[in-house]
Amino acid sequence: MSATTAQLRPRATVRVATLPGVFRPRSDALLLAAAMRERGLARGAAVLDLFTGSGVIAVAAALEGARSVTAVDLSRRAVLTARLNALRNGVGRRVRTLRGDLFAPLGGERFDLLTANPPYLPGAAEPPRGAARAWEGGSDGRLLVDRLCAGARERLAPGGTLLLVQSSLTGERETLERLAAGGLDARVTIRRRGPLGPLARERADELRALGRLEPGSDEEELLVIEASAPPLARAPQEPPR
Ligand SMILES: C[S@@+](CC[C@H](N)C(=O)[O-])C[C@H]1O[C@@H](n2cnc3c(N)ncnc32)[C@H](O)[C@@H]1O
Repeated sequence: MSATTAQLRPRATVRVATLPGVFRPRSDALLLAAAMRERGLARGAAVLDLFTGSGVIAVAAALEGARSVTAVDLSRRAVLTARLNALRNGVGRRVRTLRGDLFAPLGGERFDLLTANPPYLPGAAEPPRGAARAWEGGSDGRLLVDRLCAGARERLAPGGTLLLVQSSLTGERETLERLAAGGLDARVTIRRRGPLGPLARERADELRALGRLEPGSDEEELLVIEASAPPLARAPQEPPR
């Protein structure tokens, strides 16, 4: 196992170790965790962490005071890793780990907070296999992002929040439009510009040809997108007599 320590200052330090083949947390996970902490979204909440991988975001949510956390991943190894990391951080009783495709392992449950760091790298023509399933998002990067956008509203309790992290290469406007079409009020809450990550750098020419990267640019933005479900509609008030 390889170990990573994610400083989530000021409150929590998440210690995660990853089994071989399980995605190790990077700056995008830390950005999402920072947004969750700054907005105080996990405290007392029922949280669903999709694409949990090592479980870093799920554990961070539990350490931030979530009432319960459900962590889902398609990979058996990831689910085992997330379970071990929950135990390692002393939150094993509040983190439930489930294996399956996106929302499939959930019953009819709804959540106050849905966190997601999906595979979002554009450029792969073939369906991803093995470890690459953690980052390959299909030719436009939107294979999982679009499914998430379409299904999120149904999984959120009234007034609940989705926090999603992705790259600008995956399409900011497309995500905001799809979330709005799904009935959520969406906006970018954190935007961090930096050099292309190593995988995107390797396929920069292909990304330009696909129109996902501006000609001459070798930068991308990491975006944390927050989308809110409408609050429960109030029963109409009786007019005074
Ligand atoms: C980018 S990693 C994110 C890991 C972790 N949440 C983090 O932020 O470091 C994406 C994860 O999604 C999982 N995954 C890929 N396709 C999935 C699917 N259809 N349903 C559920 N999980 C999936 C992968 O196994 C991988 O662990």
